[in-house]
Amino acid sequence: MWLNSMKRGFNKKCPRHLNRPMVYLISFTYFLSIFFCLYNWESLMARWRHRNDSKSVLIFAATNYFGKPINNSWLESCPEDVKSYCSITNEETSFSIADGVLFHSRDFNEQLLSEFKFPRRFDVPYVMMTQENPFYSYLEEYKYFFNWTMTYRRDSDVHYPYGALVKNEKFVNLTEIWNSKTKEAIWLNNARASSRNRRVEFTEKLKSEGMNIDLMGNAFNNTPKECPRFARPPNCTHKLLSSVCFPLFRIFTTNFRPYKFYIAFENSNCEDYVTEKFWEKAGEYNMVPIVFERKIYRNLGIPDEMYIAVNDFQNLEDFISFVKSVSSNKDKYLKYHQWRKQYRIIESSSENYGFCQLCQKLLKLRGHKLKEKSYANLKDWYSTPSCDNSFVDKYLQ
Ligand SMILES: *[C@@H]1O[C@H](CO)[C@@H](O)[C@H](O)[C@H]1NC(C)=O
Ligand SMILES: *[C@@H]1O[C@H](CO)[C@@H](O)[C@H](O)[C@H]1NC(C)=O
Ligand SMILES: *[C@@H]1O[C@H](CO)[C@@H](O)[C@H](O)[C@H]1NC(C)=O
Ligand SMILES: *[C@@H]1O[C@H](CO)[C@@H](O)[C@H](O)[C@H]1NC(C)=O
Ligand SMILES: *[C@@H]1O[C@H](CO)[C@@H](O)[C@H](O)[C@H]1NC(C)=O
Repeated sequence: MWLNSMKRGFNKKCPRHLNRPMVYLISFTYFLSIFFCLYNWESLMARWRHRNDSKSVLIFAATNYFGKPINNSWLESCPEDVKSYCSITNEETSFSIADGVLFHSRDFNEQLLSEFKFPRRFDVPYVMMTQENPFYSYLEEYKYFFNWTMTYRRDSDVHYPYGALVKNEKFVNLTEIWNSKTKEAIWLNNARASSRNRRVEFTEKLKSEGMNIDLMGNAFNNTPKECPRFARPPNCTHKLLSSVCFPLFRIFTTNFRPYKFYIAFENSNCEDYVTEKFWEKAGEYNMVPIVFERKIYRNLGIPDEMYIAVNDFQNLEDFISFVKSVSSNKDKYLKYHQWRKQYRIIESSSENYGFCQLCQKLLKLRGHKLKEKSYANLKDWYSTPSCDNSFVDKYLQ
């Protein structure tokens, strides 16, 4: 009945030369296109492409990283095989087929999460990534929302350190390093607020007691002239950096290479918390880092003779005279560079170690039903017991 009336309708409207098979073909195509519109063609294609290769891994980036999109460029320096099977995207059509969903702690909060528009997927891990220590990661509770953590802490589900040592295959000429060094120690500190562990007071004391340190940056009202001023509009909150605010962050820098030592004190003394202050300065600039507590570095498997630790010394006098003796003797100084013959440093900013690990873990678990896991209270898990900021007290008395 319905079909007959439709036929009649077509017959009436269609020009004579349009025969019946043609009418069927046109209406079939029409229904087909409606079908694909409903089912979202792109998502279907993505699903098909992904399913085609059961060995591929797809990560959906649910947030940016300090306002910048997280995409495949984050995998650029991963090993070739990882790059061949893993990809990261923020295309919304990929959400439903992703093998993991990634959030960066400083680009969201509970409120933004309540506006998260995708339906919960229970079959894949939701991953919280942060590289900040507990005082600066601004984590909230996120009750049972996250399945995995990805942080600098070794007890994270995915370990995402700031740097790591890998085998070095290149020849290193240590004499050249010694020849390039003309100055003693430097600290470039761009932080505006003083930090919990009183590292600024401590370093100023080192200088006043005779250590030869150049103190530069915002913390010392001594910004290198060649660098732009630090500026950020007042409406950009510190806690949640938007993409509008981020480009306005200006980090001062200077020529570090002539310096023998770098003051690599972190803003808080936390287990496993070793940042680019250590890795970049030792790696890219061939400096010897000076740190607070040896055990934090030792726990991470960093060779003892890669840095000088203040807590090896009873008092500041001994420490300062030791640094002087190392600084003025080629053999003593180069002892702190011997490791370069065996290792080189990869930094998480240049070779995204943590991301490569996430890919590898997801690949390993692909096709397996994941053991159910989630964090009841992320803030608690990440909070302060692993940190002790009282370290300098003993030396400042
Ligand atoms: C599907 O897999 C086959 C065999 O692995 C490959 O040759 C083909 O290019 C893949 N197709 C797509 C769209 O990725
Ligand atoms: C990835 O995002 C960065 C910005 O963070 C952009 O410059 C780059 O072109 C993007 N790369 C790809 C492969 O999409
Ligand atoms: C290392 O560098 C020094 C100074 O440039 C040079 O005299 C020496 O020959 C180099 N050693 C090797 C083994 O290349
Ligand atoms: C801050 O204010 C400026 C100028 O009024 C505006 O252009 C910018 O978008 C604002 N930033 C944020 C994060 O709201
Ligand atoms: C992730 O956490 C949620 C909420 O606790 C849970 O229902 C889900 O099974 C977990 N998924 C995985 C893969 O662990």
